[in-house]
Amino acid sequence: MPLLIKNGRIITATDDYKSDIYCADETITRIEQSIDEDKLPRKTEVVDARGKYVFPGFIDPHVHIYLPFMGTLAADDYESASKAALAGGTTTLIEMICPGPKDEPWDAYQLWRSQAKGKAAVDYSFHMSVVRFEPKVRAQFQKIVKDGVPSFKVFLAYKGALDLSDEHLYAAMTLAKSQGVIMTSHCENAEAIDAMQRALVGSARTGPEWHGASRPPVVEASGVHHICSFAALTGAHVYTVHTSCDDAVREALNARYQGVQVWVEAVAPHLVLDETYMALPDFEGAKYVMSPPLRDKRHQAVLWNGLKSRSISTIATDHAPFTFKGQKDMGLEAFTKIPNGIPTIQERVDLVHTFGVATGRLSLNDMVDACSTQAARIFGMYPKKGAIKVGSDADLVVYDPKFRGTFRQADGYSNADYSAYEGWERIGRPSVVTVRGQVQARNGKFVGTIGRGQFIRREATHG
Ligand code: URP
Ligand code: ZN
Ligand code: ZN
Repeated sequence: MPLLIKNGRIITATDDYKSDIYCADETITRIEQSIDEDKLPRKTEVVDARGKYVFPGFIDPHVHIYLPFMGTLAADDYESASKAALAGGTTTLIEMICPGPKDEPWDAYQLWRSQAKGKAAVDYSFHMSVVRFEPKVRAQFQKIVKDGVPSFKVFLAYKGALDLSDEHLYAAMTLAKSQGVIMTSHCENAEAIDAMQRALVGSARTGPEWHGASRPPVVEASGVHHICSFAALTGAHVYTVHTSCDDAVREALNARYQGVQVWVEAVAPHLVLDETYMALPDFEGAKYVMSPPLRDKRHQAVLWNGLKSRSISTIATDHAPFTFKGQKDMGLEAFTKIPNGIPTIQERVDLVHTFGVATGRLSLNDMVDACSTQAARIFGMYPKKGAIKVGSDADLVVYDPKFRGTFRQADGYSNADYSAYEGWERIGRPSVVTVRGQVQARNGKFVGTIGRGQFIRREATHG
């Protein structure tokens, strides 16, 4: 059904103006100051956006949905994660494929694709993790890139599970460079963490409040330095995921000044939560265990300033949902066994609006740039995604900045049994969310069609 959005204030990464938008056949076909609805097909759905913003659909470039990790499986599937994403204004997800050390890359790719097929209500893509790289897997990675997945992921952390040797890292980055693929990277020093975890647990410091001490900022800065050194050696383009602290941001920016092509991602939890949450009593701190860990508050200002100056490009979530009861409590004996991750897929956009825009830290244009447009540009989807242009996919968020409420797990669609933001006051909410012209969410409720989400074939743009 065609869709007309009337009287809205259109906000993109660069523009801010009033106009009507008409969408047909899944794309935006007209953007004009006033479109007469009487001259449109009779079945056109009309959304009145007076007093509201109209944003391009938000893109979360770092989520985990199907995630076998730390002896368990993340709590969401594509149905719950899509509903949560859409209720919060996110219309496209890029999920990390995280195979086991012995898995064949092509098989893992097929497995992750099969999890989304028929269940996704958002559009989606993947970053393909490289957990080992011997000659025989080279062709499989090339095939995956050809299939429309031109971004890899490496973990410099999680010793013995997802990390890889420098020999394999070098080979993978050489392939990335030759294919125009961007290498996304979890930057922490796996060996240093392993040693510090042993020391802490060995001296009876086992609670979640010790998680941060096992991976301080210098451990992350070391990881960023490492990936940037390999980028300098190979010429590959790199993207540091969930960059959490001043020290790590500085390493990336120093490398950029030396000519390394490096982009920096922040994630919502690091912007709004600090390390004191990991010290909450009665094991509540486990809800806030993620890696890199939540930091001292002073790092938040650096992240917000980096976003404002656009030195940091994106705000993702690193959504990794584990239940408090039954999953996080696997680490009751030692924090090293707490599955890492904080569910945030539904809250991201409203957190950024509440704590970024409403406080004056970011402009509305900055918000769109960081939460949508940059992800589309960096990951080869622009201007199909991340833009409000004639010809772009009709992924749109009509946003009510006057809405007031609180974040509540009871309103969430994730299968996680808690919200890290429970009871926090929020400013703003998506009123209407469309995916390729079809309304998929209204006023925080999923109203769409499961299975409508499409796999997005992306272009390799980092040659
Ligand atoms: O704590 C986190 N970040 N969990 C998900 C896995 C990862 O490192 O991205
Ligand atoms: Zn990570
Ligand atoms: Zn992650």
